[in-house]
Amino acid sequence: MDRELALEIVRVTEAAAVSSAQWLGRGKKIEADDAATTSMRSMFDSVHCRGTVVIGEGELDEAPMLYIGEEVGDGEGPEVDIAVDPLEGTNIVASGRANAVAVIAIGDRGTLLHAPDMYMEKIAVGPKAAGSVRLDDPIETTIDTIAKTSNKRVRDVTVIIQDRERHQQLIDRVRAKGARVKLFGDGDVGASIAAALPRTGIDLFLGTGGAPEGVISAAAVKALGGDMQARLVPSDAEEKERCREMGITDTSKVLQLSDLVKGDDAIFAATGVSSGELLDGVRFLGGDLAETDSIVMRAKTRTVRYIKAQHHLDYKPHLLAEE
Ligand code: FBP
Repeated sequence: MDRELALEIVRVTEAAAVSSAQWLGRGKKIEADDAATTSMRSMFDSVHCRGTVVIGEGELDEAPMLYIGEEVGDGEGPEVDIAVDPLEGTNIVASGRANAVAVIAIGDRGTLLHAPDMYMEKIAVGPKAAGSVRLDDPIETTIDTIAKTSNKRVRDVTVIIQDRERHQQLIDRVRAKGARVKLFGDGDVGASIAAALPRTGIDLFLGTGGAPEGVISAAAVKALGGDMQARLVPSDAEEKERCREMGITDTSKVLQLSDLVKGDDAIFAATGVSSGELLDGVRFLGGDLAETDSIVMRAKTRTVRYIKAQHHLDYKPHLLAEE
């Protein structure tokens, strides 16, 4: 993959973020998602690549754009797999809460797992604990491992978990062990990345969330030198069949980081829509000026860039929501 691709795709996540942020707090999650998807799709036309969407807004019959199998890019340049979540945190934007992001992961053709839209169990850690934790270890063992690898007391180990009923037992066990739980409402891509970044103070991401989000997170975790494992959780025979169609025959298998994102390269970009753990959201500064914060990283070189950009929306009227 060309290294320029990393910088080019930030323009795509920026566009999605600026468009959807205009729906922040308006109670309209579909409109917010549509705005992000439309802007992201149209920005892709100028990206120098021959991309195929492997994780997107759904199947062709469910989504008018960024559907699985859609070809995106300018039709020249490297052949790549594209995984997108134009708006990670649709409910967040509708209710005006923190942590919504626009995200893209890119890998060489054939390297990103074609994960069906279902639940996935996940564990993610940063570089210090990479190679030392296992999805199937009891949580108490994992916390001891993290304490050891990060030279922390168990009471200082912080586990980020999505605030859902299905995680209650896990939350109780983490607390009983003496570690800390940081709950979040929505947006497990940002939460997984927070666990892999050193400056957040979060040591471990655990829980069950979307499988597509899992693959996107894995690209970022790989670029950060962290580790991730996962297992699909098909809820019925139909979901099992979908896994089979997508080439996953053994759904009980623990997927390693190298199964989620093969090879040694991947690019990840995210732009904050609403401020959160990872990034600040879009700020509308008046006079048609908007400011965005993005992160872009590449696994091959482990470079992580934070990009602050100012956008003059009078020059980008296509990003403005209709009155
Ligand atoms: P959406 O952007 O599709 O609303 O997803 C938000 C999210 O929190 C994901 O980050 C997470 O993987 C998933 O929802 C969890 O699903 P559920 O809301 O069913 O617990």
